[in-house]
Parts: sequence; structure tokens; C-alpha cells
Amino acid sequence: MPTFVYQSFTHTDTGLVCDGVSLESIVERVDTPVYVYSARAIRDAYGAIDDAFAAHPHRIHYALKANSTLAIVRLLRSIGSAFDANSGGEIAVALCAGCTPADIVFTGVGKTRAELERAIAIGVGAINAESGGELDRIAALAAAQGREARVALRVNPDIDAGSHPNISTGLKINKFGVSLEDARTIYRERRGRAGLRFVGVHVHIGSQITTIDPLQRAARALATLALELRDDGIALEHVDVGGGLGIAYEGRPIISAADYAGAVIPEVRRTGLPLLLEPGRAVVGHAGALVARVVDTKRYPDGRRFAVLDAGMGELIRPALYGSYHQIAPVRPRPSPPAPWDIVGPICESSDVFARDRVLPPLEVDDLVAILDTGAYGSVMASNYNRHLLPAEVLVDDGQWTLIRRRQTIDDVLALEL
Ligand SMILES: Cc1ncc(COP(=O)(O)O)c(C=O)c1O
Repeated sequence: MPTFVYQSFTHTDTGLVCDGVSLESIVERVDTPVYVYSARAIRDAYGAIDDAFAAHPHRIHYALKANSTLAIVRLLRSIGSAFDANSGGEIAVALCAGCTPADIVFTGVGKTRAELERAIAIGVGAINAESGGELDRIAALAAAQGREARVALRVNPDIDAGSHPNISTGLKINKFGVSLEDARTIYRERRGRAGLRFVGVHVHIGSQITTIDPLQRAARALATLALELRDDGIALEHVDVGGGLGIAYEGRPIISAADYAGAVIPEVRRTGLPLLLEPGRAVVGHAGALVARVVDTKRYPDGRRFAVLDAGMGELIRPALYGSYHQIAPVRPRPSPPAPWDIVGPICESSDVFARDRVLPPLEVDDLVAILDTGAYGSVMASNYNRHLLPAEVLVDDGQWTLIRRRQTIDDVLALEL
């Protein structure tokens, strides 16, 4: 089934627009670089996943790591999302957005004592523990508080997600979770331990997964474990299959939410347990564009053309980190014939490249370009490298736009320094 992708960024006579709002008009007010998000695209993507899983009791815990800008978290909260937090900071953002602790699952391979103490104290819905040792520490901290922590164990089923090695997490060479063989023993040995209440099983094998098979196999492995635990007398409340659903960065159709649900639900149904889902990228990825300005162009004697932007790996590190592909669209394409361009950032690193040999209409200094599908793992990974300032962020909703994060200033940055 082809994937339905709501197209929020479209070309019109007035240049590229986001849901009818001209990107040029936004830039006139907030300058570049700026992340622009479509609220409608976020609602539609969330709704498509929610609808696809309608046949089985489920809860979407949006993975905050994909994009945790407060206004976006609030938007997702307003349409019923729960959250997957990967740090104390993300828990704080979820609470700030009006989320109750019970609607948060707390995942993360290196949770600190302070983070665990706080998660136990506020009573998060589940702490997805990464090891037997972490479960023991949670038990001790919870017992010290006179509380019972709701926990699940993250298993590493040794399944190749088939995505980039840097975002594959479910192989036995990866640092995440415990093996299936160890999981059953870990649950058994800690059953009835003061301070612990086992509520689920958890898996997350990677991100940007574009084939059904690994997702289905991971769900099957998790469901089998849940049934074995039931046989051991450990009554769980949910099966958490993590996130990972990929999006079509290159415009090719990939797995639809319906195909994903069609593969996962039959595996989990036999447990009789509700499903927890932790999608991140699939909810916000298509909804965002990074709008930047061309600050220089040059042509080498061999013909290679460069367009240097005022945004680079400091604003969007995915291409430098994973060699990832993003469509690049001039906001007002010139009508002359296209040619190959290297689209690069201003940072002093040769890896600061968004695209090589990308065939685009002619570009000139001061032109605006939009780097598409940057709603996920974009602004959240931005840094101050080369003392660049974090970009502004704008949310377009119902024909209006709002500044949801102002551009950082150099005073903001220096305020931390003594
Ligand atoms: C535990 C966990 N859950 C969910 C996600 C979200 O993944 P994605 O954005 O691919 O849906 C991640 C990200 O890698 C993760 O580590």
C-alpha cells in the first residue's frame, strides 16, 4: 500500500509555502536559519498511526527525542499523545506541556541516579530498564522512598533493523537492552522484589526502518517473551514495541502505518495485552523544513558548483552524521535550466555538506532554500559549534504562523560562562 504523506510544503506563484503561508513572509520577520513546522502535518501523521492501530488497544507514546520543542509537545498532548522520554530533561518538557507522570515512559541507556530518583518520585508510567543492574538500583531507590516503581525491561532481540548502523539499536553488538535469553531470568529473579512492579516488556531495534520484517520479528519476539513471563506468573500490563517507523526522505513509498499495524497487531494480539508505541520520526519528520539563505556561491575550474548556506551541521547534523538524504527546494526557483550543486554549510568541517551534485535551478547569494523533512532529529540535535546560535522555530497552523522558539542570542550563550 503506498504511504500517504501529507504534503505541507508546496510550490505556488508566491514561492514555497507551508500550508499556504509563504516562507518568504516568515523569513522577512524572523530571518534565517529557521525551522518551520506544519501543525497539520503533525496531526495527520499522528492520526494515521492512531487510526492504523484502532483494531487493538494501544497508546502512542511519542518519542520526544525526535523533536521536543515545547509547542510541538503541547500540540501532541492536545491530540491525546503520551510520551517516551529519554532523559530527565525530556520528562521535564513533557510535564511542562501538561502531561501527567503516568503518561510518560522513561527509556535511556544511561539513566543517572538523580533521574531515576525523580522518575520514581513522580511515578512515571514505566521505567524501561536497560539491565538487571539498573533494575536493582531502581528497586533500592524506590524502596528508600517507600514506593514501588513501575518497570519494564528493554530486550535486545539481535534483529538487524536494516537502517544506518548509527541508528540500529537491536543487534547484540549494540549497547541497548538485554538479550532475550537473559531477559526471562532477570524478570524471574526479581519477581516480588520490594520496590519493583513489572508492568511491561520493551523493545526498540532502531530508527528509519523501511521494511516490515524486522519490526514484525521484534514484535513477535517480545510477545513470546510476554507469554513466557505469564507462564512464570508475571502478569504484565503492556507490550511496548518502541518506535522506528521510517519516512520517505527520497519520495519513494515506504511502509505505511497501516502495513506496520497489520504486521504488529497479530503478533501482539496473542498476549491479550495493550500495545505501547513510541514513534518519533514518523510523527514529526515530514512536518518540518529548515529554511536557510545562500551566503556565497562559487565554481571550481572543474565545474563543481557550491552554494554555501547560513545553516549547516550546527542546525541539522543528520547529513554529516549519517550521510542522510534531504530534499532541498529553492523557495523561489529561478526559471533557468538546473545544474548539479554541492549544498554546504558554513562550519569549518568538510563533512558540513547537505548534498552533493544535487540538480537544482541556479542559486544566487541571498536566495532562500528549504531543506525538507527535517522535523525529526533536526533542531533537537542543533549545537553552538563555531559559536553559531540555535535557530528560530515557527509553527504554522490554520493559515497563521507563530514563533515557538526565538533565535538564541550570543548573550544567551555567554550567560552560562563565568
Ligand atoms: C527507545 C526509543 N523509542 C523510540 C524511538 C523513536 O524512534 P523513531 O523516531 O525512529 O520512531 C527511539 C529513537 O531511536 C528510541 O531510542
